[in-house]
Amino acid sequence: MYTALYRTQRPEVFDEILGQEHIVKILRNQIQTGSVSHAYLFCGTRGTGKTTTARILAKAVNCLEEGERPCGKCSHCQAIKDGNFMDVIEIDAASNNGVENIRELRESVKYPPAVGNKKVYIIDEVHMLSTGAFNALLKTLEEPPEHVMFILATTEPQKLPPTILSRCMRLDFRRVSQKVIAENMKAICRMRGVEVTEDAARLLANCADGSVRDGLSILDQVLAGGDKVVDRDKVLEYVGTTGEDFFIELTELVSLKKSAEALLLLNDVLLEGKDVKQIMKDWVSHYRGLLITKFVKDAGDMLNMSAENLKRLEEQSKQVSLEEIDFAVTRLSKTINEARWSTNPRVLLELAIVAIAAGSEREEVVYRRAETPKATVNVQELPAAKTFVTGPEKTKTEVEEIHISANNEALWHSIFEEAEDSAGSFNLIRSGTQLFEVGNDSFTVIANSSFTQRYVEQKKRQLEDLMQARMGKRMKLVCKLKEDAAITIEKKQSTEDLAKEAEKLLGINIEIE
Ligand SMILES: Nc1ncnc2c1ncn2[C@@H]1O[C@H](COP(=O)(O)OP(=O)(O)OP(=O)(O)O)[C@@H](O)[C@H]1O
Ligand SMILES: [Mg+2]
Ligand SMILES: [Zn+2]
Repeated sequence: MYTALYRTQRPEVFDEILGQEHIVKILRNQIQTGSVSHAYLFCGTRGTGKTTTARILAKAVNCLEEGERPCGKCSHCQAIKDGNFMDVIEIDAASNNGVENIRELRESVKYPPAVGNKKVYIIDEVHMLSTGAFNALLKTLEEPPEHVMFILATTEPQKLPPTILSRCMRLDFRRVSQKVIAENMKAICRMRGVEVTEDAARLLANCADGSVRDGLSILDQVLAGGDKVVDRDKVLEYVGTTGEDFFIELTELVSLKKSAEALLLLNDVLLEGKDVKQIMKDWVSHYRGLLITKFVKDAGDMLNMSAENLKRLEEQSKQVSLEEIDFAVTRLSKTINEARWSTNPRVLLELAIVAIAAGSEREEVVYRRAETPKATVNVQELPAAKTFVTGPEKTKTEVEEIHISANNEALWHSIFEEAEDSAGSFNLIRSGTQLFEVGNDSFTVIANSSFTQRYVEQKKRQLEDLMQARMGKRMKLVCKLKEDAAITIEKKQSTEDLAKEAEKLLGINIEIE
């Protein structure tokens, strides 16, 4: 049976961990001096080595060897590797997030290790624990027995209560550099007798976007083709990144203030099934490329790019001003950030396109914004949409299903675990509402009926309290009625409405043909 690369390539000792030198240094030193902490929090992007390092640390405190620990070879190290060492307990908080799970854990913590030196509890995806479970865990973290070590791992430390954060030694895993990932990929290919070109390795590493695991998964797909030589084109066949052509064209269009054409171009690539969020990120990279080529001669090494594309980039960089680049990067970064929480990232990118195209008039834009607050934009007041001729207008009755992300669903569900026994009306709210969006300082709840909406309003304070306990900061609750919310969503999705709103907002004239 074939085993995925990211499983066969899991580092077993500190030396094999890529790109986290700052963390390895600390842990090694603590092992050598016998000063390990009783609780660690490993944070950082997915696939950067959190679980792997947690297991290595668990080996290190239980290794039988005298010298460099973990040795990776002794019976304890081997048993931990194979996952059958009694004193290393891995818990996936995503599926064991209740109070009972943590109570069980607290019971077992009392007993000394069966064979090893320390009992190590690795709690993965720890941000998924319910509030009750966090509280139960807190008690154990406050006064842990001498023979116990906790390693909590999460991609979302901002979701942990401050009380947990303050009791752990926090280590932040970084995205691994493109260069390190590329070198690793070349080494793996060499071992398999596959020749990989420099260009191909760089492109692969670029797609990995700092995650070693993602990189290995892509490499896996490419190697599955069975080719003995892997070049850039081969990689492109698999990853099918939206080509440089697209970004050159898109940038040119917004630079010429042709927002309508830019929106249509975006529409075309989205129809091909490209990912909106990826496009946002790649577009920022393109602007970065323009910036670099403006200042650096022969930037080929700095940018992951073929000589031919580099030339085109240099051409374009002469036409795009520094100011434009500055505005576009700032605007897109904001968009990427907002898109993380949005169920409809497309409209955010469309808005960004329109705004970037209007960029040079931005003083005026800011001024008009202040004058016309978003909330007062009323569709009826806008001029007739004579120039908009893309597809039929949607009517208000065609209400679309509201899409609730699994993450929000889980989060909303966990909120009520704490509140369960507090009052009957919570049950009503629980069954009659959905968590739609979590923003920076507010969260939006959708009520199925005006009846439930009223209950939500009544319990607003308490709901905000529960959310605060879960997210670690105070946020305002916004409750919308399902029908109204669906209409706004549907509105946002239509390009015409978007254009109209943008017109009003930005004080420019948008034509969609
Ligand atoms: N820093 C790294 N050095 C070497 N290999 C790594 C590194 N990070 C990840 N990998 C590879 O990716 C695989 C998965 O890594 P790991 O499970 O440690 O990631 P993680 O940070 O826990 O990810 P997640 O957030 O998804 O749980 C490993 O088996 C290994 O092949
Ligand atoms: Mg993990
Ligand atoms: Zn060992």
